[in-house]
Parts: sequence; structure tokens; C-alpha cells
Amino acid sequence: MPRLSVLLVRAALIYLALGITIGALLLWNKGVPLHPLLWRLLPAHMEFLLLGWTVQLAMGIAFWILPRWQSKRGNVRFVWAAFVLLNAGIWLVVLPAWFGAQNSVVILGRGLETTAVGAFALHAWPRVKPWVENAT
Ligand code: HEM
Repeated sequence: MPRLSVLLVRAALIYLALGITIGALLLWNKGVPLHPLLWRLLPAHMEFLLLGWTVQLAMGIAFWILPRWQSKRGNVRFVWAAFVLLNAGIWLVVLPAWFGAQNSVVILGRGLETTAVGAFALHAWPRVKPWVENAT
């Protein structure tokens, strides 16, 4: 597995652990109320599991496994950009929510996440092709 895939998958696993821990806390808080402010962690739960875990895992595996040119995986810089932008975006969405703010930082975070997906698509698009040239 290439180093970048290792990074993406490890980061995804960290988000899975964080997301499930927060989910468990929220569930506990529903049954046995601990503190009302815990509900501020709901956006982090959603963000960590939907983007940090699911999207990042898909990117990590796709970068590893999509068809290559000999041993080359195409423009790797797009994938580095996707990794940095996605993770920066996740925290820019999550942190304002923790502090009870709804501001333009969240919009910036969403913008970074969208750009990350676009950057990854630019990398992956030419690699999505039939295994054998001219195959039906
Ligand atoms: C990949 C796994 C998961 C994903 C993608 C996910 C995603 C979500 C999303 C999108 C919501 C918001 C739903 C809404 O507002 O209508 C939510 C809420 C919640 N999740 Fe998860 N979740 C996952 C796993 C878990 C796990 C493992 C737990 C508990 C251990 C958990 C506990 C909760 C709780 C307590 C809520 C709040 C429900 C409420 O509004 O009453 N989630 N989750």
C-alpha cells in the first residue's frame, strides 16, 4: 500500500474511533443526561463519521487500488491536496460548532471539503478505465 494510502486510511480510522466515541457519549446523554452542552458534539459526530471516516477511507483505498500506468499513479499532488483540504475542512466545520458559533468559518470549511473531493476526482478520473485496452 502506498504511503499516501496509509496516511489516508490511518486518519480515517482515527476519525472512526473519535466519531463512535462521540456517538456513544451522545447516546448515553440521551438516556442518562450528563450535560446539555454535549449536544454541541453532534456536528463533530456527523462530520467525523461521514467525511473523516467514510470519504477518507474511500479516497485511501481508491488511490491504492485504481488502475495504474506501469507503477505510476498519476498526479499525486491532487491527492495530497485532497488529504490536507479535507482534514482542514473537517476541523473548520467542527470547531465553531463546539463553541456554539455559526459563522463564515463553517462555510470556508465546507468549501475546503468540496475542493478536496474535486481535487481527488481530478486525480482519479483518468485512472478509471477498462483493465484491458479496447475491452468491451
Ligand atoms: C458510520 C457510522 C455512523 C454515521 C455515519 C452516523 C451518522 C449520524 C448522523 C448523520 C446523525 C444525525 C442524524 C440527525 O440529526 O437526524 C447521527 C446522530 C446520532 N448518532 Fe450517529 N452515526 C454513526 C454511528 C453511530 C454510533 C456507533 C453511535 C452510538 C454509539 C451513534 C450515535 C448517534 C446519536 C446518539 C445521534 C443523535 C440522535 C438524535 O438526534 O437523537 N452513531 N449519526
